[in-house]
Amino acid sequence: MTPTPLSRLTLADKAALTSGSDTWTTTAVPGLARPLVLSDGPHGLRRQGDGDDDALGLHHSVPATCFPPAVALGSSWDPELAGRVGAALAREACALGVDVVLGPGINIKRSPLCGRNFEYFSEDPHLTGVMGEAVVNGIQSLGVGACVKHFAVNNQETDRMRVSAEVDEQTLREIYLAAFERIVRRARPYAVMCSYNRINGVHASQNRWLLTDVLRGEWGFDGLVMSDWGAVNDRVAALEAGLDLEMPPSGTDEEIVEAVRSGRLAESVVDLAGERLLRLARRVEARPDADGWDVAAHHELAREAARASAVLLKNDGDVLPLAAGQRVAVLGELARTPRYQGSGSSHVVPTRLDTAWESLDATLERVTFAPGYRLDGQPDADLEREAVIAAAEADVALLFLGLPEAAESEGFDRTSIDLPAPQIALLHRVAEVCDRVVVVLSNGGVVSVAPWRDSAAAILEGWLLGQAGGAALADLLLGTHSPSGRLTETIPLRLADVPCHLHFPGADGQVVYGEGRYVGYRYHDTVGAEVAYPFGHGLTYSRFDYSDLAVQETGTNEWRVEVTVTNAGERFAHEVAQLYVAFDQERPARPRHELRGFAKVGLRPGDSRRVAFTLTGRDLAQWSVARQDWKIEAGPFLVEIGASARDIRLRAEVAGPGDGYAEPLTGMSTLGEWLAHPVGGRVLGELLGKASGMPDVRRADPALLQLAMGIPLIKFRTFGMGLSADLVDRLVDTVREQEG
Ligand code: BGC
Repeated sequence: MTPTPLSRLTLADKAALTSGSDTWTTTAVPGLARPLVLSDGPHGLRRQGDGDDDALGLHHSVPATCFPPAVALGSSWDPELAGRVGAALAREACALGVDVVLGPGINIKRSPLCGRNFEYFSEDPHLTGVMGEAVVNGIQSLGVGACVKHFAVNNQETDRMRVSAEVDEQTLREIYLAAFERIVRRARPYAVMCSYNRINGVHASQNRWLLTDVLRGEWGFDGLVMSDWGAVNDRVAALEAGLDLEMPPSGTDEEIVEAVRSGRLAESVVDLAGERLLRLARRVEARPDADGWDVAAHHELAREAARASAVLLKNDGDVLPLAAGQRVAVLGELARTPRYQGSGSSHVVPTRLDTAWESLDATLERVTFAPGYRLDGQPDADLEREAVIAAAEADVALLFLGLPEAAESEGFDRTSIDLPAPQIALLHRVAEVCDRVVVVLSNGGVVSVAPWRDSAAAILEGWLLGQAGGAALADLLLGTHSPSGRLTETIPLRLADVPCHLHFPGADGQVVYGEGRYVGYRYHDTVGAEVAYPFGHGLTYSRFDYSDLAVQETGTNEWRVEVTVTNAGERFAHEVAQLYVAFDQERPARPRHELRGFAKVGLRPGDSRRVAFTLTGRDLAQWSVARQDWKIEAGPFLVEIGASARDIRLRAEVAGPGDGYAEPLTGMSTLGEWLAHPVGGRVLGELLGKASGMPDVRRADPALLQLAMGIPLIKFRTFGMGLSADLVDRLVDTVREQEG
């Protein structure tokens, strides 16, 4: 056997490497590597000091910049900006002695109820993958490691440590693994964190298919897999599955020593985990130490990111931006006491905190404030009355509404998507006395807007915007900048319209992903259901035209798509041009369209930009369970260019050659499948020409034909049609031979 760098170590020493030395630190590799420091993540550093080590965010951590959480940063649709945020996280990591940042979180938003949606980018895997890739590249540009999490299918908090996500393989590959795949292949993160839950019955931490066959075997991951905090149930099974590091340590290293001694576990498996830890240590050796960072510059970056992330949902009569000289009533406790991040392990102690009220008060001359409601959700008639009086005396009421901290967090899911009732009551009363009401929302998960949106002239969805969110919101309301965020998730009319509604969050330890690939807009747009605001939607203070769509074939199953975007309005603003690949079909056999590209462009009034996208076969492909690989069907598809999933401006039909793959034929393949098969159709056709009892498809009655098409070929044997088992075998062999 070739000696490993670890061969000098005792078995006990090597076993010790497979768990941390404390909550945030790995075990030193004697003589070879120092202990490595891991820290949350994802939108700011939660570096805890001595004695403050808990994973639930209950204790203090060292101040660090609280950048906009992923719900907001994702809404910027700006990977370049996300990359700069990632690099800033890395600078702070260097200053705080952190080697690996525990993020980004790239789980898909399956339901708006998931308590942790504020930590995730989108309901769409392409957008999630592109944004996550940018953050990882940014973090790792300084030699700090990124740890992509939570691998995989962690889409709810309810029962998260035990629940089994029951998902078919096609849905897994196309929706829940696709963003991980992109990031692993393209950004090569140093680490991946497995999730708590089970996937089709097997805990992620013990899932060999996931952690070894797919992650390493197919995607080429060569980094370290660590557990989510406390996700390991069986140390030996986890190691064998490909999990290298248990965090935090459970004090059970002896189990591994025992397993090796008793021959249940090969020592080479322990060695491999140790070598991966060593590789991580070598990779982060390049990380520089720093004395500190430019706190003001990072705050400014947090403000820029927040500005880019808020989404203007509605702006009737151009009530925004505020006009000079207007009397403005700023209403709502959230304007003074902002919610700017979520609760749980991602909770950051900020270096500064801006509030919208302070920023507006500093700029506007005729402005008043009234809190309007209590954050604990209790009705308060006095506060409401005071706010209504303030609104009655104003030209514009800026009403800050949102979810209180206790409403959403890591560790539990919501049961409703409604705003607190006293806030909605306040809105209705304010709207009675003021006809220019602007609602500014603060929430990590989607809230329903349909019940009250008619009472607001404008709605600015501010999500959770990080420590500079208050100032950023003021920038947008005052019009120093135009909003430019776009929805990364559908806002449904009602919670019951969400495709997984009847399955979420499951029962008896299982959650069935019965909606399959039809998550978010993939469902709503396939069935043509009405939504409150569609995926990709967001207004600006300008407007944009699209023209001259051109699709050019650049190779087999490869195209270059170009389109011109023009700012046809009066203000500098950003447009997010979105490319969807669409499949026209009478009966939905796949999502009607899927996002495959986007580009955010800032344009001055009258200016145009030619925007280019590349489409590859993978953008058209579906996962074939039979093939255990991607397959590209031949046939026309549409390239759609639009400003949202429901605002498609240009379309071009393209002929797709496919990849020539046809599912292997057997006797159990139906007559229809035989006839559709490029070789099988001909071989069978020849037989039909000659043979006796088979239905002649050219002459058959249409109803009979349709019936026959669904029957496995071998069954014609029993229907007295003269087709023997031998003949079917010969047909199968002939097809195989002719396919080569
Ligand atoms: C969370 C992870 C986090 C870890 C350490 C867990 O509860 O799920 O996202 O990185 O704690 O704080």
